[in-house]
Amino acid sequence: MSSDDLKRTAAKAALEEVLPKLGRDGIIGIGTGSTANCFIDLLAEHRGVFDAAVASSDASAARLRQHGIAVIDLNAAASIAVYIDGADEVDPQRRLIKGGGGALTREKICAASADEFICIVDHTKVVDVLGTFAVPVEVIPMARGLVGRAIVAAGGTPVLREDFVTDNGNLILDVYGLKLTDPARMETDLNNVVGTVCNGIFAAQAADRVIVAGPEGTRWLT
Ligand code: A5P
Repeated sequence: MSSDDLKRTAAKAALEEVLPKLGRDGIIGIGTGSTANCFIDLLAEHRGVFDAAVASSDASAARLRQHGIAVIDLNAAASIAVYIDGADEVDPQRRLIKGGGGALTREKICAASADEFICIVDHTKVVDVLGTFAVPVEVIPMARGLVGRAIVAAGGTPVLREDFVTDNGNLILDVYGLKLTDPARMETDLNNVVGTVCNGIFAAQAADRVIVAGPEGTRWLT
């Protein structure tokens, strides 16, 4: 099975799980990236079943609209039944690194707004300890140097993501070499550096459930 097949398998399992829970006035939260795109494409043929979607990026909003799915602003959503998104790394406690696509801030906001966050990944994303994948940190442009120096002091190596501006008009530092034995602590420490908007460690609020698609089938981390 190719990586794309596995992403589609995870997306299909999530769809089967959430569709029965979405009422006609239900709002679904949609993430960003190639796995989330698989979910969007599968969701398209069920667009009459629920009311609208909230998207974690302009790219996902555009893809949803291309499929004829209504996209509303998060502030207009009374509640979000479930948020579906991929991840770059997942540990056994369902803590994540996200933001490879640069949408980490809106992703964390959507996840925090939803009644449930279901993460969908292929098996290559599952690790024992987070931190091989660089941690993306979204920074206000004028604070790039200040935040970078604080990250170096914390033991990380920040690399500015070239030619990239987030949907919020900010920059991304991809941080290598952080020791993530206590991911929630590092998430807080990074957030406390002035000029930081958000970072891609999802530990304070981990995923509620993770669907992992592998060659032997689909399993859930709960
Ligand atoms: C987007 O900013 C990310 O958080 C994605 O969810 C993550 O990078 C996973 O992307 P893929 O599904 O493309 O691997």
